[in-house]
Amino acid sequence: MQTKTYLEKISEAAAYIQGLYPHTPDIGLILGSGLGVIADLVENAVVVEYDRIPHFPVSTVEGHAGELLLGTIAGRHVLLMKGRFHQYEGYDGDTVSFPVRVMKQLGVSKLIVTNAAGGINTSYEVGDFMLIKDHINFTFRNPLIGPNFAELGVRFPDMSEAYSKRLSVTAREVAESQGLTLQEGVYTGLLGPTYETPAEIRMLRALGGDAVGMSTVPEVIVARHAGIEVLGFSCISNMAAGILDQPLSHQEVMETTERVKPKFLKLVLGIIEKL
Ligand code: HPA
Repeated sequence: MQTKTYLEKISEAAAYIQGLYPHTPDIGLILGSGLGVIADLVENAVVVEYDRIPHFPVSTVEGHAGELLLGTIAGRHVLLMKGRFHQYEGYDGDTVSFPVRVMKQLGVSKLIVTNAAGGINTSYEVGDFMLIKDHINFTFRNPLIGPNFAELGVRFPDMSEAYSKRLSVTAREVAESQGLTLQEGVYTGLLGPTYETPAEIRMLRALGGDAVGMSTVPEVIVARHAGIEVLGFSCISNMAAGILDQPLSHQEVMETTERVKPKFLKLVLGIIEKL
């Protein structure tokens, strides 16, 4: 539920961060499981633990550090979230996307979201990167439910270009110049925390999904509501349930993201240089 105090909380969190970092971050980054390594690219970083920021939630998952970094990458002021919030942790959509509201208040106009995801498309390989060209909200929840604040965005936000075509062109160009195969597909966002059953994966494939994960959708909805341009990447950390004859585990997710770190760093750095 969005109440008046929601707006006050956004302002207080933003004011606290502004007091520590007096520049306007233009680019926001949200890093998924095991992808926090991008934080190493930030120069002159100011590190703020989530629990120091007024009203910020604290993440509870292993592999999610829970700190915000402000600094520069390729000379651009960035704000980077190392560790995000998930609905399976028990947070509602408002809470999960609260940091995106704070980013907007601080001046962020472009958001790069990353996640680890299961590959539904059988032409994908573990370790591939997928440019998210669209998503399907399979959480059947929406972070914008409740009274709408005109200060934050319109009542009925357009989602026909949830992921920016303009920024995708840049992402493709950078990947190509690096000789990196960049898959493109539809991210299906579920609540979790269970991984899917093979039958659910067959359903998601039949409905147009290429990758599946438990994050990203609420943040992207709020970013679009706020008028922020979004670029999204999934790291295919495992093939989705039932594709290979093996169980799924968080350990496999972490091992894959660890392995692809160097390529991922290079891609993100290349993109930020061009944004
Ligand atoms: N399913 C859902 N979420 C995930 C997966 C998956 O296979 N891999 C990483 N996050």
